[in-house]
Amino acid sequence: MSRAGFFVTGTDTGIGKTHVSVSLIRLLRTRGLRVVGMKPVASGAERIGENWQNEDALALMAASSLSLPYDWVNPYVFEAPLSPHLSAARAGQQVELSYLITAYQRLAAFADCLIVEGAGGWRVPLNPAEDIADLALRLELPVILVVGMRLGCINHACLTQAAMQAKGVRNAGWVANHLESDLACREEVLATLSDKLGEPPLGELEFVDDFSHGESTRNNVWRVGEILRRLGSLG
Ligand SMILES: Nc1ncnc2c1ncn2[C@@H]1O[C@H](COP(=O)(O)OP(=O)(O)OP(=O)(O)O)[C@@H](O)[C@H]1O
Ligand SMILES: [Mg+2]
Repeated sequence: MSRAGFFVTGTDTGIGKTHVSVSLIRLLRTRGLRVVGMKPVASGAERIGENWQNEDALALMAASSLSLPYDWVNPYVFEAPLSPHLSAARAGQQVELSYLITAYQRLAAFADCLIVEGAGGWRVPLNPAEDIADLALRLELPVILVVGMRLGCINHACLTQAAMQAKGVRNAGWVANHLESDLACREEVLATLSDKLGEPPLGELEFVDDFSHGESTRNNVWRVGEILRRLGSLG
C-alpha cells in the first residue's frame, strides 16, 4: 500500500489527536487535495437510530472532502469508553487488523490523502495480541505524534518516539497542541521537545478558549511545505 496520508497518534488519550487530525484535514484541503479522515477503532459511542456512532469519527467525517458511509470511516465502533480490546470483548467482538486494512484501502481509492486517527496512545491494545503500533505499521503510513502540552508531556513524548522507532514506523514529525492557556515555561518546554524529538514541531495549535464553539484556527501555525513534502516523499 502506498497511498499518501498520515497516521496520527498521541502522547495519551484526550490530548488532541482529533483536534489535530481535523485541523490537518482542513489544511490539506486548502491545498486542493481530496482528504478523508478515518477512525479505524473507536471506543465510546452513542446510539443513533439503529447504529452506534463515535464523536471522533463524526468530526473527521464532517471535515473530510467527501461524504462516505459511516462504517467505511469507522469500521469498529464500541459502546463502552474503555481500552478497545476491552470494549470489543464486552461487545462480544475482536478487532481484526486485516479487516481494517481492507477498510483503509476502500477509503484510499476515493482520496488523495488519508488522515488516520489512532485510539488513545501508541501502545493501546486493539485485541489480546495486537495494538495501535501494529496497526500503524500494517497501514505503512508515516506517523505524526501529537504532544498534548501539559506537565509530563516531555516524558510521554520521548517514550512514544522511542517506541515508534523500535517498531520501525516512519516518523513524520510531531505537533504541539496547547491544552492549557498558561503552561509554565511554555517556550522552554517547546525548545526541550524540539531538542529531544530532533526537530521543531510540524505544527503548533493554540489553546482554544471555548472548545464547544468549534476550533479557532487563527493563531495556529503549520509548516505547510514540510507537511506536503513528507506527504509526498514518505507516503
Ligand atoms: N487546543 C486545545 N485547546 C483547548 N482545549 C483542547 C485543545 N485540544 C484539545 N482540547 C480539549 O481536549 C479534549 C480532547 O481533545 P481530542 O478529542 O482532540 O483528544 P483525542 O486525543 O483525540 O482524544 P481520544 O483519545 O478520546 O481520541 C477536547 O474535547 C478539548 O476539550
Ligand atoms: Mg480523538
